[in-house]
Amino acid sequence: MEIIEQMGEQGLSDLVAAFYRRMKDDTLVGKMYPADDWEGSEERLRDFLIYRFGGSQKYIEERGHPRLRMRHMPFRVDSAASNRWMEIMRAAMDDVKVPSPSRETLDDFFEQTANFMRNTPDAR
Ligand code: HEM
Repeated sequence: MEIIEQMGEQGLSDLVAAFYRRMKDDTLVGKMYPADDWEGSEERLRDFLIYRFGGSQKYIEERGHPRLRMRHMPFRVDSAASNRWMEIMRAAMDDVKVPSPSRETLDDFFEQTANFMRNTPDAR
């Protein structure tokens, strides 16, 4: 079953809202986001996921091709940051009780994408 059919655009919006409620308080990854534009960040991730999983094309119309890896280059994404992002997303998926099989599809997608965003070797 498609994510968008099972969760609807509203379900994805609720997930992204839960994610940023947690991210705002995070001291490792949370402080990378522009502190005066949480609403904008929420809108971009929401629109991206809706577009990526078969809903409205608003993200592409407003932002163009996602080029996510390039857009993350300004941020220091090492394994700690990538793991923390994923932990927060999993907690958000628990918060809103994303149903199976969307849960497994999203979990795989987030994990792969979060690993792909890594751009900085771990400090030793
Ligand atoms: C791996 C750790 C990650 C870190 C530290 C991180 C951090 C950030 C930060 C600081 C921004 C800029 C704020 C904004 O414009 O919204 C951003 C943008 C964004 N991130 Fe991430 N992110 C990570 C992983 C991911 C993953 C896994 C996805 C997708 C599933 C994702 C999707 C996006 C999108 C769609 C944007 C907005 C791009 C645009 O400018 O249109 N990020 N991220």
